[in-house]
Formats: sequence, structure tokens, C-alpha cells
Amino acid sequence: MSKRLYIETVGCQMNLLDSELVVAALREAGYELVDHPRQADTVLFNTCSVRQHAEDKIYSALGRLKHAKEHDPHKIIGVVGCMAQKDQRLIFERAPFVDLVVGPGQLHQIPRLLEEIAAGSGPRLEVSLDRKAGSRLEVEQSFESYDPLRDPRMRPNPYQAFVRIMIGCDKFCTYCIVPRVRGPEQSRDPAHIEAEVRRLVDQGCREVTLLGQTVNSYRYQAGDRRWRLSDLMIQLHEIEGLDRIRFVTNYPRDMTDDLLEAVRDLPKVMPYLHVPAQSGSDRVLRRMKRGYTVAEYREMLARIRQTVPQAAVTSDFIVGFCGETQSEFAETIELVRQGRFKNSFIFKYSPRPDTKSHQHLPDDVPDDVKRRRNNELLAIQNAISEALNRPFLGRQVEVLVVGPSKAARKQGAAGASLQLTGRTPCDRIVVFDGNPRQIGQLLPVRVYDVNGFTLFSEVVTRHVGPQVFQLQL
Ligand code: SAH
Ligand code: SF4
Ligand code: F3S
Repeated sequence: MSKRLYIETVGCQMNLLDSELVVAALREAGYELVDHPRQADTVLFNTCSVRQHAEDKIYSALGRLKHAKEHDPHKIIGVVGCMAQKDQRLIFERAPFVDLVVGPGQLHQIPRLLEEIAAGSGPRLEVSLDRKAGSRLEVEQSFESYDPLRDPRMRPNPYQAFVRIMIGCDKFCTYCIVPRVRGPEQSRDPAHIEAEVRRLVDQGCREVTLLGQTVNSYRYQAGDRRWRLSDLMIQLHEIEGLDRIRFVTNYPRDMTDDLLEAVRDLPKVMPYLHVPAQSGSDRVLRRMKRGYTVAEYREMLARIRQTVPQAAVTSDFIVGFCGETQSEFAETIELVRQGRFKNSFIFKYSPRPDTKSHQHLPDDVPDDVKRRRNNELLAIQNAISEALNRPFLGRQVEVLVVGPSKAARKQGAAGASLQLTGRTPCDRIVVFDGNPRQIGQLLPVRVYDVNGFTLFSEVVTRHVGPQVFQLQL
């Protein structure tokens, strides 16, 4: 059988990483990647359940494949990831032509399952246990951390990579499906994490982003030794050839001083902190069961600003959560105004089945009000993002050059000079005219123009001589 694979991925960084690993395993098994489902023998969707919209997109993409499957019954169609864990058999009911449903804790089985389906086994379903379907240990064991060999060809560029340090989540915010579909919180052995980072660096990677749903809740114990995220970063900092360490997503209550000091004291740890607030109202935070008050969130922000003043802080907000009044929303506006976030991701509340908010609180904010609040908050945040970018005018920043810019890719530009893109330490996007040899390097550039999203820059020519570069973060 010919093995042409098409994979479509939605959702968070965890899903991007999972897709990279699934593709790497399938390449190993002889598959090649193609750009369109039409050309493929196997079509996989790596799915997300965090909002209804993400699921609707997948079900309509599946609907579009119905005819292709009628036309070519040998085409294998698979649904993997969070929506597979959540909907399980329902996927076969809604799309009877699907062959494969695999939850995020069972991804290691995909190569074998595809082989069995091709050999005529019929549809296959592999998911982990539901959170209440067994003891804590049984449920934990049914979610396998999927971290096989890495393959730099699978990433958008070989210089940056995600590294999972935890799976699952135990926070159970009332609106959130993640603890259900990703299972119990479990931290990976630091020795395994270090070995994976070393391997990535050997393959040319210069920046790793450590991933966890609440990455700063990382805890690991072996014998008498205990690791927190700060200890893990001290350990990874030693790796020669690794230039940058990032980590997402942080839980506000676990933003401890040892972590902030690690960000301050370890030069490879980038001054970028994504710490979602979700709301600026105590009443809403209580209904969300976030476990902190707005005063505590502000106190945490103040500690960040005191310990790592150059750090960029970013946040997530949900608008139109159950019962959110205009005055509660106004409190969120206030937090965004005062918080001075580099940027914020803003979402309209989307009720998720079997979550506490869906079971106990009415989704009573009309959609047009949610939309209005979303737009209003976004406009305020965008103005702040731009204001925070303005002081970069004229400054020199260090950029990890990752490849041609979006515009250059669109034009298909090639040759000696082309527009390149990369990120500053605080994760701002930089574009500048350069040449392909600079891809993969850390370069000083000078900013000559900004908008809310991008720093437009030019390469700083290095002078020979005892000149000291003052790099700004
Ligand atoms: N683990 C991370 C991110 C979880 S999902 C964290 O704790 O921050 C990413 C974001 O999606 C959340 O921060 C939240 O803002 C949003 N989100 C989660 N569930 C949602 C829902 N039911 N409706 C709307 N937005 C939601
Ligand atoms: Fe969801 Fe809350 Fe866990 Fe984040 S911390 S994944 S929002 S339950
Ligand atoms: Fe979505 Fe699953 Fe990530 S629900 S946000 S892909 S953990």
C-alpha cells in the first residue's frame, strides 16, 4: 500500500507537538507527508475541544471528506487528540466513514492501528479512561505521555522545539474541558526531559519551549531529591549549545519567587511569562474556581515587575462567562488597562459538556454581548500592545532568526536577499531584510518602525574592535 499522509492540526502547543511526534513516528513507518487531503491515503485530524467552534470546524471538515471516502473506500480517515477522547463513539455516529478514533493518551498506538485498519480490521477506537472510571493510579496509567524520538523535519523550523514536561491538569476550572480530555496532571522525569533537550540541541535546535497546561506546577520526586520548574531550568541551563529556554502556560498561584529568580538569574531563560488571568472580577473568578482573587493576581504581577522588570507578561481572558454583568466586565477592562500585558488572547465563553459551569450555571450572556465585549477588550489590549512596542524604536534587540517572513514565503522570494523573521527574548516578532545564511543565528538588529504586532528592523553590522554591544531585551 502507498503511504501518503495528510494531517490537520487545531488547538494548543500540546497538539502541535503531538502532531509533530505522530508524523515522525509515521515517517519512520514509511509514510510521506502531502499537502492536501485529496492526495492522501491517510487523513488525520488532530483535534481540540476547548471551545465549540474548534469542534465544529473538525466536524465540517470531516463532512467534506464523505464523498472522497465514497469515491475511494481505501482512504483511511482518523480523528485523534482531545475531541477523540471527549466524543469517542459519537464520532463514528456523526461521521460513519471514520476509521480511527484515538485519544491524546494513546497516540503511540497510531502506526499499529493504521496497519491493522489497512489489513481490514474495521474501525478502531483507542481512548484513555474517563476521570472517574477508575482509581487515580489507573486513570493516570491510561494516559501515556507520548514523547518518542524527535525529527527536526517535522517542525516549522529546526531551531525551535516544544518539549513536554507535564501532561494533564488537575485544576478543574469550572469552564474547562482540558482536565477531562488530557487526564490527571503528571510530571515527566527530569532525566528524560534533559535527554530529549540534549538530543534536540544535537540536531541543531537552539530554543526549547517547555510545555505544560500549568507548567509552573511542575513537581518531580526521585528518592530524596525534588524538582520544581526552577530546579529543572537550572539543570537544562547547563546544556551547551542551547541558547534559549521558554515555558508555557503558567498558573498564577504557582508563580513562586524561586521561579521568578530563575528567570532573572539564568541568562538562557527568556523574560517572557504567559500567566492567564481569565477575568478581572473576584465574583467571576470564584464562579470559574480559578483559586485566586484579583488582588492576588495583581500582587503576583507586582512581584514579576519587581524581580524581572524587563519581562513581557501575556494573558488569556474569557468574556461573557456565566452571569458576567457589565460591571464585572468593566473590572476586567480595568485589569487589562493596568496590567500592561504584551498581548492577551481573548475568548468568548463556550459551554463545554460535563464541566461544572455547564452543569450548574446558565450560559446567560447573549452572543452579541459576548462579541461586543470581546471586541472592546481586544481594542484596548491592541492599543496597549502598540504602546509597549513604541519604546523599542531605535533600540537594538537580539533576534533568533527562524526563516523567511510570512510576506517572503507568500511571494516565494528566494535568492541572496530576502525578508527574514525571528523573535526577541521577550517573544516579539521581528522582521528585517537579510540573507538566507542568517537563518538559525542569534543576531543583533536595530528597530526602525513598530506596530502592535511587529518590530521592523535592520541588521546591525558588527564592527571589528573592542566594541561592547548593549543588548536590550
Ligand atoms: N492551561 C492553560 C490553557 C488552557 S486552554 C491555562 O490554564 O491557562 C487556553 C485558554 O482557553 C484558557 O486560558 C482560557 O482562556 C480559554 N478557555 C478554556 N476553556 C474555555 C471555554 N470553555 N470557553 C472559552 N474559552 C475557554
Ligand atoms: Fe483548564 Fe484551568 Fe487546567 Fe488551564 S488550569 S487547563 S484553564 S482547568
Ligand atoms: Fe484544545 Fe486539547 Fe489543547 S482541548 S487547547 S488541544 S489540550
